[in-house]
Amino acid sequence: MKFFIDTANLKDIKEAYELGVLDGVTTNPSLMAKEGIAGAENVTAHYKAICDIVEANVSAEVIATDYEGIMKEGRELAKLDDKIVVKVPMIREGIKAIKQFTAEGIRTNCTLIFSAGQALLAAKAGASYVSPFIGRLDDISHDGMALIEQIIQIYQNYGYETEVLAASVRHTMHLIQCAEAGADVVTCPLNVITGLLKHPLTDSGLAKFLEDHKKSNS
Ligand code: E4P
Repeated sequence: MKFFIDTANLKDIKEAYELGVLDGVTTNPSLMAKEGIAGAENVTAHYKAICDIVEANVSAEVIATDYEGIMKEGRELAKLDDKIVVKVPMIREGIKAIKQFTAEGIRTNCTLIFSAGQALLAAKAGASYVSPFIGRLDDISHDGMALIEQIIQIYQNYGYETEVLAASVRHTMHLIQCAEAGADVVTCPLNVITGLLKHPLTDSGLAKFLEDHKKSNS
C-alpha cells in the first residue's frame, strides 16, 4: 500500500519523507489556504516546492468547474512537473475532463467520491486514482470503510486499473482497515503516519533493554 501525506505543509511533508515511507502528497484548496498560499504565482511555486521534496505523485487540484477551465488549469499544472497528478472534482464536467486528460497522458485523481457509482464513472473515464472520503462519510453516520471495500470489489470484478486512494483518513485504525481491505493508497495527515509507530510495550520494552544494558556495563 502506498502512503501519501494529505497536506500542503512543507515541514510535515519533509518529516514524512525523511521517515522513508512516503510515496506522494495530496493537497486540496482548503489545505493550500490553511498554509496561506494564495495567488497563481505562489500556488505554482508551492507545488514546485512540494515536487522538490518528494519523488512522485503530487496531487494538485483544479479550481475551475467548467470543462474548458478544468482542461486549461489541469494542463498548466501537469506542465509544472512530471510528478503532478491533476486532481479533478467528481462532477459531470470533471468526468469529461478526466477522459480527455487520460487521452493526453495526464494522470488524474478524481476527488470528492462518496458513492460506488461515482467511483465506477471515474474508472470508466480512465482516472489514475479515485479518492473516496472515509472520514466525511463517517461524520454523517455512513460507513466510509464499507465504501472502500465496495469500490475495491467493483474494480476487481472488471479489472479497472484506477487505484483506490482512500482519503479523509482521520486515524490509524482507518489506515489499518484500508490496508486490510486492500486499498492501493492511503492519504492522511502526518500524525496518522507517525501514530503507527506507537505501542506502550515497545516503549517499556526498550526502556528495560537499555536499563539492563546499562547495569551490566557499569
Ligand atoms: C483528499 O485528497 C482530501 O484532501 C482529504 O483527504 C480530505 O480530508 P478531510 O475530510 O479530513 O478534509
